[in-house]
Amino acid sequence: MKPRILISIVVFMAVLFFPASILADIDHVMTVNPSSFSPISPILYGIFFEDINHAVDGGLYAELVRNRSFEHTDHMEGWSVILDKGCKASFSIKSERPVNGNNTHYLSFDIESDDGCVILANNGYDGIPLVWGENYTFSSLIRGDEYNGEIEVHLIDEQGNSIIAAVLGSDFDDLWEKYSVILEVPEDCQYGRLALIVKGSGLISLDMISLLPDKNWHGMRPDLLEMLEELRPGFLRFPGGCLVEGDSLENSYRWKDTIGSAEERRANYNLWGYHQSYGIGFFEYLLLAEYLGAEPVPIFNAGISCQVRGAEYCPMNTMDVWIQDVLDFIEFANGSVESPWGAKRFELGHPEPFNVTYIGIGNENWGNEYHERFTLFQKAIKDRYPEIVILFSGPPSYEGASFNRAWRWARQNGVEMLDEHIYAVPEWMLRNTERYDKYDREGPKVMLGEYAAHEAGRRNTLQAALAEAALMTGLERNSDVVIMAAYAPLFNRPGWSQWTPDLIWFDNTRVYGTPSYHVQKVFNRNLGDIIVDSSLTDEAIEVIGYWFKSLYHSCSFDYETGDLIIKVVNPWPGDKEVLVEINETTKLTGKGEMTVITSSSIFDENTFDDPEKIIPITTVLSDFSNRFTFTFEGNSITVLRLNTWSL
Ligand code: AHR
Repeated sequence: MKPRILISIVVFMAVLFFPASILADIDHVMTVNPSSFSPISPILYGIFFEDINHAVDGGLYAELVRNRSFEHTDHMEGWSVILDKGCKASFSIKSERPVNGNNTHYLSFDIESDDGCVILANNGYDGIPLVWGENYTFSSLIRGDEYNGEIEVHLIDEQGNSIIAAVLGSDFDDLWEKYSVILEVPEDCQYGRLALIVKGSGLISLDMISLLPDKNWHGMRPDLLEMLEELRPGFLRFPGGCLVEGDSLENSYRWKDTIGSAEERRANYNLWGYHQSYGIGFFEYLLLAEYLGAEPVPIFNAGISCQVRGAEYCPMNTMDVWIQDVLDFIEFANGSVESPWGAKRFELGHPEPFNVTYIGIGNENWGNEYHERFTLFQKAIKDRYPEIVILFSGPPSYEGASFNRAWRWARQNGVEMLDEHIYAVPEWMLRNTERYDKYDREGPKVMLGEYAAHEAGRRNTLQAALAEAALMTGLERNSDVVIMAAYAPLFNRPGWSQWTPDLIWFDNTRVYGTPSYHVQKVFNRNLGDIIVDSSLTDEAIEVIGYWFKSLYHSCSFDYETGDLIIKVVNPWPGDKEVLVEINETTKLTGKGEMTVITSSSIFDENTFDDPEKIIPITTVLSDFSNRFTFTFEGNSITVLRLNTWSL
């Protein structure tokens, strides 16, 4: 599904644009001086990626089988076994002769007689969606120990009928061997299942049971991928979040576990309470960043597990292994194909370097334990790769003692960039749009690596999107300091999620963008190259005892199109009339367009039933001059693109 952007016929200026002279009651005056400007970070808006809410397994990763490798802590999670009447058989999870040292569990059936059969079924995530006419590749590693018989693979519909089947073979070796078959699906089935019918006698073992739709890009689901493409992200921060840290160091994210063939990846349990196959690992993240034209920003564990969950600290004298992991990654991503890790990249099919420039050490870490470990990474990386920019992690808080201490330490210790996270109520965002105006221009730069407005109920409402848009006008105006910013988290699969609000919601077959998604998209597509000097007169307004600005804005200029871009957020119910005065040195052609995101209530949100309730609507404008009056609707985010003859 593509968010709809409507280009309607020209809106006559009488509706929204008035010659300034005939208007008496103007709420505000906006003065724009395009000859005074400062740069905008071209990678300001990006994506924060973390396997939370089943963003990857059961999400972007197109694998349809849940717990394909039986490595889940509950090894039979996702699976059911049925013994046919009369069949004498038992099953167990074994680890005596595993596929390899990273993939240590597998399922064995011990079948006494070949009367009847054993049925092994997997339900995927809320059923397995099957599309008529599409091909699906089934594969499994199988080992037979004096097993006589065959295995049938079936795709089953909601009524329990087999809609397509294939026989896998009958002569199974006593060494692990991969069997695969392509199944062309003859009918649509939203809640399908995979079933293996094991007919025979003896001992038979299975591992890495997979069903992958042929329509995938490096194992990624095309519809979710398209949603990311639409954002045109400047950067991709991965693989988390708290996920990087782990509940303990044992399940912290180790990039080397996530590359190579699927069966070689060392699956692990996830801090968010489920199992990760690592089907999308560091190599795929790098490919994804490259495909999206986004700067890759990998984050590495600092030798500390999640401090909020009771930290485990790697002893200082054994930190080498964590540091070496990062150095090896840089060689893997950027090094020559002659180098050991560069050769690995070559082997995986990517001889060209990925040119990674930014590396993050730690996520939401703080205190002396973090500082002393960060220093070790900083020295080792800079000694070998001085060109790499190292991100220092801020604490979970975005103000207060711990936050101030992190900044103080960062300033005193040569930190280049600090990763801030802001999850705040909409009112906080509206009251803090000038936060970065006060930042030291000589100090470390900022990556606002995670942010979102959390309204009461933590829903993805228009209210939350309005507050984020207001904050983003402040990010743009300060993008000499704020180099990168990403909404978080990215995906939500209802029924399987741990966290709301999120940018993109999906299930097996549907996906939609929240109002926050549309704000990210519209702001990024209208970023511009430079921020233009502008001011807006304001009458502060009081809401439940707090004072707020009544409008929030930023102005930028796009060299390629010659468009002056004005973004205005009106988070309040009433319309606001603004007299816009653009310095006469810049001549407008009188052509332009406006894009508006709004809805009748700030509590409105998009849903699976009404996925396009709140989307950007773009309208062509014409016949305006350097001085005009514009009405910004109540509860709206408006982007005006005003074409100029030149800056
Ligand atoms: O985005 C969800 C979580 O919020 C991230 O994992 C963590 O960094 C933050 O606390």
